[in-house]
Amino acid sequence: MLKIAVCVSGGGTNLQAIIDGVENRTIENTEIIAVISNNQNAYALERAKQAGITGICISPKEFASRNDFNDAFLAKMEELNPDLIVLAGFLVTIPETMIDKFENRIINIHPSLIPSFCGVGYYGLKVHEGALERGVKITGATVHFVDKGTDTGPIILQKPVAVMQGDTPKELQKRVMEEAEWIILPQAINMIAAGKVTVENNQVIMK
Ligand code: GAR
Repeated sequence: MLKIAVCVSGGGTNLQAIIDGVENRTIENTEIIAVISNNQNAYALERAKQAGITGICISPKEFASRNDFNDAFLAKMEELNPDLIVLAGFLVTIPETMIDKFENRIINIHPSLIPSFCGVGYYGLKVHEGALERGVKITGATVHFVDKGTDTGPIILQKPVAVMQGDTPKELQKRVMEEAEWIILPQAINMIAAGKVTVENNQVIMK
């Protein structure tokens, strides 16, 4: 059984896709042991509660320094000891100590086809604003392992989504979520739970 901890900051629609996937068995052999939010008001915490999953809030604001937060966050994660940490719209930088401790055991969903529209400053709606400004005709989503860079880790899955003329950032965000994110994030977890995903020389190899 793959024990996962899901980190969230906002609405939690990707979290919901994981909860639904575990329930309807498109994600097999997986248990969500906790949902961790940096934001007490995140609707994602309500989704966790409704699914009977432990919700934990740990916010940088509660600590005197970023280092203190990083230590507390890592201590909490070590106590939970998940096999996999899933960043599902988590807007806090993962401490390097956690990346070392959970090497190739942290994955993230990003709402574009990496390496486009990613890196520092590209999160949430900003990603879709960037895609629309550039006028790309295809965007999409990416699930990747987390390394010490921003959106630079080994890519697990990607799915393209068409950009329509006249799209607003919100319309594009919704299409990318519906047609890509909510599909490939559960798929990636299911593949990891089945032991099909390994990393060699910074590349994902599927068995
Ligand atoms: C999702 O679109 C996710 O890809 C994005 O935040 C949104 C969270 O929505 N993540 C990033 O931009 C990370 N760089 P949700 O809370 O409804 O799942």
